[in-house]
Amino acid sequence: MLQLTVWTGDITRLETDAVVNAANCTLLGGGGVDGAIHRAAGPGLLAQCRTLGGCETGKAKITGGYLLPARYVIHAVGPVWHGGEHGEAQKLHSCYVHSLQLAEQYRCRRVAFPCISTGVYRFPKEEAARIALSAVKEKEKELTFVKEVVFVCFTPQDAALYTRLLSSMRI
Ligand code: APR
Repeated sequence: MLQLTVWTGDITRLETDAVVNAANCTLLGGGGVDGAIHRAAGPGLLAQCRTLGGCETGKAKITGGYLLPARYVIHAVGPVWHGGEHGEAQKLHSCYVHSLQLAEQYRCRRVAFPCISTGVYRFPKEEAARIALSAVKEKEKELTFVKEVVFVCFTPQDAALYTRLLSSMRI
């Protein structure tokens, strides 16, 4: 049974096998959670990211965690919200699926996700949370190493949203 946890705080402080970064397609850092992860991980992270050749929206690539407490960083590139008619939901869903596939491939037991695309990329929070939870639930049957998924919320409001959806979606 996959354990789903909601945790409020700064993802860079989380002791876990993998943290997922809400990156952009260059993988060369930015603001928000991307900026926080690069600041906390140190220059080694950017140096490795430079070798990756970027990443498509909806996909993810994995690096070491460097100075982070996490062993790995999974850089997922979420969609920018353009109103919902441009495949945004499918691309966001794909971020979670690809991130879990990498976590499984690297035998991570515990993976922590931020609320991908809901900051600078303006994806509506509730719809994004529903997509995140259903993508993780859908992948559950294929996971053998991943035993816990942590949904990291930066605000108590986001955490309340995830908690409400977890019970209402009976996940
Ligand atoms: N820990 C956990 N969550 C965080 C942190 C943090 N340290 N900092 C921000 N967040 C939350 C935001 O509150 C939001 O809910 O992460 C979520 C995603 O917001 P963004 O970081 O803005 O990411 P996103 O909306 O996916 O936009 C990605 O922003 O930083 C740039 O390089 C990044 O171009 C990319 C874009």
